[in-house]
Amino acid sequence: MTQTEDKITLSTEDTPLVPMEKIVSLCKRRGFVYPNSEIYGGVSGIYDFGPLGVELRNNIRRYWWWSMVQTNDNVVGIEGNIITHPRVWEASGHVENFVDRLVECKNCKRRFRVDQLPKENLEQNKRPVCGGELGEPRVFNLMMETYIGVVEGERMKTYLRGEACQNIYLDYDNVQKSSRMQIPFGICQIGKAFRNEVTPGNFLFRQREFEQWDLQFFVHPSEMQKWFDYWRERRFEWYKGIINHKDRLRLRPHGPDELAHYAKQAFDIEYRSVLGWQEWEGIHWRQDWDLSRHSQFSGHDLSYTDPETKERYIPWIVETSGGVDRTFLNLLLDAYEEEPPSGKDKEGRTVLRLHPWFAPVKVAVLPLQKNKEELVTTARDIHKRLQRLMVSQYDDVANIGRRYRRQDEIGTPFCVTVDFQTLEDQTVTVRERDGMTQIRLQIKELPAYLLERVMWNYS
Ligand code: GAP
Repeated sequence: MTQTEDKITLSTEDTPLVPMEKIVSLCKRRGFVYPNSEIYGGVSGIYDFGPLGVELRNNIRRYWWWSMVQTNDNVVGIEGNIITHPRVWEASGHVENFVDRLVECKNCKRRFRVDQLPKENLEQNKRPVCGGELGEPRVFNLMMETYIGVVEGERMKTYLRGEACQNIYLDYDNVQKSSRMQIPFGICQIGKAFRNEVTPGNFLFRQREFEQWDLQFFVHPSEMQKWFDYWRERRFEWYKGIINHKDRLRLRPHGPDELAHYAKQAFDIEYRSVLGWQEWEGIHWRQDWDLSRHSQFSGHDLSYTDPETKERYIPWIVETSGGVDRTFLNLLLDAYEEEPPSGKDKEGRTVLRLHPWFAPVKVAVLPLQKNKEELVTTARDIHKRLQRLMVSQYDDVANIGRRYRRQDEIGTPFCVTVDFQTLEDQTVTVRERDGMTQIRLQIKELPAYLLERVMWNYS
């Protein structure tokens, strides 16, 4: 992002790809993400979100919900549960087919996913790097099991959901009838999913507990292509709108060997980082597979009758399915920059060029000196008033330059400084993160000025 006068705009200028260690370190140091159960040695593929992380997550979720549910008259939202009837996962095919095939190296004992090994290693039956012989492939189911009930022998085995979208199919009939939606219409949900990933890694990229967002859009079969194209483009533009480096985003069509048997086509929206080109969201042609299977397994007819033509059919589905955690990670990878010392800035700085909408802290209020009571009282008062409108942080520790840097590193778009002139004329300095430009404003002008820039001015 760059600053033109007082308006923040996204820039397409490219900068080097950011090493993952820099993001992991920033996240721990500044309270975005911590390893789960760290004091016990941690659990691979499971993370907790700290004070800044939870703000960023909430902003990400809120923006998706606003743009998918609140601003589309033909889309509604639900919040389904993590635990469902176990038959759901038989109908969906997860019990039988949600598997990874793994091979173990006889030399170093490490395990590898067959679909991720280079072809030549599979052909020669040799592990990359150590060259050890590979064992026979073994199959592992990714579903996490759990039990309902307390009495041994009467407990029902079920699963923590492996994908959040199943709740939408389960609630489809209730939503359609209770909200009087007519086809074409969509149902959205954001929710946790659980997978016993055999090779979790790359920080938040592949976890065992993570959060997905889904739109399932129900259409007449004759309109499937039209809506598939529509949502593929909408979702691609959505991702383009939230990153600085537009050239790091692409739409990749699935090859015939990747397509599900019912899918005519599918696309991944991919982002390029140090991990290479990787999926961020999938756009799937699910046809009538899900509702037909749940009709068959549950015995509950999920077909739809057109109120005008009286035609009865199982709706076809366009799915757009992405991840809150991958968005969190990609936004940080995209926004992180280390700026060398320059004319304006003698020391250089680390800056997170997050769009103000996503920034965990929107404004920091800083008295120029902490040993001058009037400065502190005025700054605290401004901070308290701004807190009613947005996330504001008060900071009086260290010199002003260091405080600016602390805020730059967490992506705070504006800093308000209270100085001696404030006490005379009720004006403050507003310093903007990206261009480090400063203007003077009346205190009473602050709410409208900041609100417009952090909430409304989204391009
Ligand atoms: N209902 C379709 C579905 O679940 P998916 O490609 O397996 O499709 C959709 O998952 C999205 O969920 C991915 O594009 C990714 O953003 C996110 N995701 C999947 N597995 C993940 C994992 N282990 N850790 C973090 N995010 C994951």
